Amino acid sequence: MISDEELIEKARLARLSAHAPYSHFKVGAALLTSDGRVFTGCNIENSTYGLSMCAERVAIFKGVSEGMSEIAKIVVVTDSEDVAPPCGCCRQMTWEFGSEDTEVVTANLSGEVRTYRIKELLPKAFDSRFLEGVG
Ligand code: THU
Repeated sequence: MISDEELIEKARLARLSAHAPYSHFKVGAALLTSDGRVFTGCNIENSTYGLSMCAERVAIFKGVSEGMSEIAKIVVVTDSEDVAPPCGCCRQMTWEFGSEDTEVVTANLSGEVRTYRIKELLPKAFDSRFLEGVG
């Protein structure tokens, strides 16, 4: 099984492809699926700012489009003094394609690492359970 260090390195490399000319905040992500596949992503900004997409969701979209299984772990790498946790949208998307125990590993370029479970970062999540029996 791939180690956290190897996943962090993959996210660090993915970050180098970030298109972030507006915020100058480059982000890299690497997700590991329950059957051992890895998908990476970087943030992709646009001159129409609202179209910008986070690194985590790029990795998730790549994985979903290629038939990935559940997200076991998602790693996010930023060049921030403190490690940066995923934004709310990316937490919700991780919840959709993970389990409550999906690990979220946050790291910065200085080697600081902090790991959470998605259920800590997104308590009381909305999900498909609330749609059961509707319509
Ligand atoms: N960003 C991510 O890629 N992931 C996050 O979880 C937070 C923010 C990106 C979006 C934007 O391109 C830049 O970081 C500044 O917000």
